[in-house]
Amino acid sequence: MPDRPACPLTTSNGAPVADDDNSLTAGPRGPVTFDSWRTFEKLAHFNRERIPERVVHARGTGAYGTFTSTRDLSDLTIAPFLRGHGRTTEVFARFSTVGGGQDSSDFARDPRGFAVKFYTSEGNFDMVGNNTPVFFLRDPSKFPDFIHSQKKNPATNLPDPAAAYEFWANHPASLHQVTILMSDRGIPASYRHMHGFSSHTLSMWNATGERVWVKWHFKTLQGIRNLTAAEAAERPPFGAHKDLVEAIARGEAPAWSVKLQVMTAAQAKTCRIHPFDLTKVWPHADFPLVEIGRMALDRNVENYFAETEQAAFSPANLVPGLGASPDKMLQGRLLAYGDAHRYRVGANANQLPVNAPRCPVHHYQRDGAMAGMPPAHGTTNNQGGGANFWPNDRAAQGSPAPVARVTEPPLPLEKDAAVAAYDNADEDNFSQAGALYRLMSEDQRKQLVANIVAGLSQADASIRARMVQQFRAADPDYGARVEKGLG
Ligand code: HEM
Repeated sequence: MPDRPACPLTTSNGAPVADDDNSLTAGPRGPVTFDSWRTFEKLAHFNRERIPERVVHARGTGAYGTFTSTRDLSDLTIAPFLRGHGRTTEVFARFSTVGGGQDSSDFARDPRGFAVKFYTSEGNFDMVGNNTPVFFLRDPSKFPDFIHSQKKNPATNLPDPAAAYEFWANHPASLHQVTILMSDRGIPASYRHMHGFSSHTLSMWNATGERVWVKWHFKTLQGIRNLTAAEAAERPPFGAHKDLVEAIARGEAPAWSVKLQVMTAAQAKTCRIHPFDLTKVWPHADFPLVEIGRMALDRNVENYFAETEQAAFSPANLVPGLGASPDKMLQGRLLAYGDAHRYRVGANANQLPVNAPRCPVHHYQRDGAMAGMPPAHGTTNNQGGGANFWPNDRAAQGSPAPVARVTEPPLPLEKDAAVAAYDNADEDNFSQAGALYRLMSEDQRKQLVANIVAGLSQADASIRARMVQQFRAADPDYGARVEKGLG
């Protein structure tokens, strides 16, 4: 054992450790004694190595990179990182599957999470989207039911495709997303070869208080690549993770062209499509894609747990000039993610380096577990000795004070709107699923039907019949083929 190693092993309180292989015992064959506190520290810390995995999107891969603006959006937003050409902003992106736990495969037939944290000069903006432009639901109260139906069977702890179809048979709003999921695009070949979408309608507002509605699109510059169910079954469970990490390590820097669809407030009033319905896309012919920048990922994490596992993305991480929308699902998410972070990572999750804004942070929140980390990216030491209440008389001495110029324009409500539980089952569930089906080639239709039949055949007759009815409502040929496939 070297007497003075270059890097001395220490306990977590910094004391050098003389022997890390042998606990203190009463004699060479005797029991361990209480003096073995170094051993106990190791064992106790080991017991706490895991934090709760994400309840959804548990399995994922993250990397850092850069967003570079290619268009000046001063007319739409006051967000500095979008005002001017060629502005660069650091990003951290995390890609994931949705339903499986950390023990599942990267190649499940499942939507992929596509979350991007933009470390802007006025705070972190998180675009927490998926690789599909729509979602299964319109109301956030259905999210836990939906996810339960996708997770393992509570009795057998095995995947349960029949339960998934039982939910969908009772919930026709899912049909558009089900059609995408069961299509040839249902299993991306890697995280590099897929698009990303905000899916939700978000908003932007400018210096004169005008608001527009926007949908974000991240178009892969690597091209789309997918796997068939048979190909996916051959892949190792960690294949998409390995692919991304290795591509970045090789210096390939996977990239996406970042685009927006923009709808004015006036257009939203007359649009034939409900602008805040997450089960619908906006036709590109009516709302063309406008390129606003490019995102490239060029740096792997140094420590998976510290960075990717503790990354905390939230749709409520908005910055001046970028806002939410009345989409009910999005509204539910504005609450859900911060709540998940406080539980999963801790009240001070935003002080961890991966989550900390790159701009100064000054507020009146105090304390909580692990508060007072060393200054990182402008986060101060539990706000030091500054005032811990507002209002105070110390703004002139540097106490944080609200910034009136970033007031978001008010959102007008519908005339005579009343608070009630509105049933939106009368929304059109089928047209866009049918239009998508009719865009598919013969080969794509065959794959779609085979993928549906593989799972739906495991459900009971009533569920099969209701699903066939839904496919028929989208397109008679779609329904007829699934019915035939089910025999
Ligand atoms: C009301 C509906 C929804 C609820 C309540 C919900 C809730 C959650 C929760 C609790 C997490 C785990 C967060 C964490 O532990 O850090 C999560 C993760 C995630 N959700 Fe949702 N979700 C909803 C809908 C959606 C939709 C519609 C999308 C995409 C358009 C989406 C995309 C994601 C992504 C990408 C992640 C993983 C973020 C990461 O990489 O850490 N979710 N969701």
